[in-house]
Amino acid sequence: MASTLKRRRIIVLVHKSLIPPDDISKLSRAEIAPFKTEFDVRGGLHKLGHEVLMVGLSDELAPLRTAIEEFKPHVVFNLLEEFDGQAIFDAHVVGYLELQRAPYTGCNPRGLLLARDKALSKKVLAYHRIQVPRFRVFPRYRKIKRPRQLEFPLIVKSLIEEGSYGIAQASLVNNDKALEERVAFIHDKILTDAVVEQYIPGRELYVSVLGNHRLQVLPTWEIFLDNLPEDAAKIATRKVKWDLEYQAKHGVRIGRAKGLSEEMERRIARLSRRICRRLGTDGCVRIDFRLHESGDLYFLEANPNPDIGQDEEFASAAKAAGLKYPALLQKIVNLGIRRAERG
Ligand SMILES: Nc1ncnc2c1ncn2[C@@H]1O[C@H](COP(=O)(O)OP(=O)(O)O)[C@@H](O)[C@H]1O
Ligand SMILES: [Mg+2]
Repeated sequence: MASTLKRRRIIVLVHKSLIPPDDISKLSRAEIAPFKTEFDVRGGLHKLGHEVLMVGLSDELAPLRTAIEEFKPHVVFNLLEEFDGQAIFDAHVVGYLELQRAPYTGCNPRGLLLARDKALSKKVLAYHRIQVPRFRVFPRYRKIKRPRQLEFPLIVKSLIEEGSYGIAQASLVNNDKALEERVAFIHDKILTDAVVEQYIPGRELYVSVLGNHRLQVLPTWEIFLDNLPEDAAKIATRKVKWDLEYQAKHGVRIGRAKGLSEEMERRIARLSRRICRRLGTDGCVRIDFRLHESGDLYFLEANPNPDIGQDEEFASAAKAAGLKYPALLQKIVNLGIRRAERG
């Protein structure tokens, strides 16, 4: 790999509010949390000897255009997750990088759009006979009526949001009234269409995949929700994912999935590769599954450009596969540069 050891000029593209301070030694864990990934990536790229320019965007592209013209980066390291408050606009920013012919890390715009839509992605995969929960989209400004094929319990989500935005205990519904209320909540408060899915009980597995053409599937990770209160739905709500106090109180833990048979590991790896190919994602992707007690694997969603902070599941799984953090970042850089070279 010729590109491995070269010193590169790298723009790290982030949200304007998430440019980390140089010194974080006096900040608490909670204060660091919002920009931890940005901090880790900047530090890691410095450690590798690269020349790094942080560029922050909120609702205009001009700073990116200027930075590309003046800094002439070999690659843009993309950590942007939204533009002007819209989660799906990240794909358009990546589209802009393509128009600028600027090499970038992470997923291409088409993969981002397809994977981000929780219904469209499932439609594509179901066509290829990959098992997905039954679902129905409830668009905004339309009457909310449950089709008979959708039987309770059901889970109500935003069609396009992520990070469990809009997911709480009330998302799991057992009757038509609760369903209607939660769909209305997604429409009126999250301001997107809703998707309602068959609730799949079972273990929740996270599978990280690295690569453009040759896809490396990293060891399977799992979120452990067994210690949530007995009457609580075992789902990764907003609180489960982001509230450090809540996590500590209820023993929410993410770690390597134990006790999966070799056959199951192989099935998971094969299925994850197929999913990435069918959705056309590349770079880094994390795929969420539910493993039903019957042994059936259900695709929940694909997360292109997942959180690659040093302590998050993607980097932890990479480490378990022998890829330490700076080496992971270098690999991500190389993948971005190589995709651009191939055209
Ligand atoms: N069909 C489903 N069956 C069981 N649990 C689900 C289902 N869909 C979502 N969940 C739960 O809700 C969480 C968030 O849903 P997900 O589709 O991954 O949205 P996000 O993009 O916000 O992460 C999942 O991690 C899982 O715990
Ligand atoms: Mg998810």
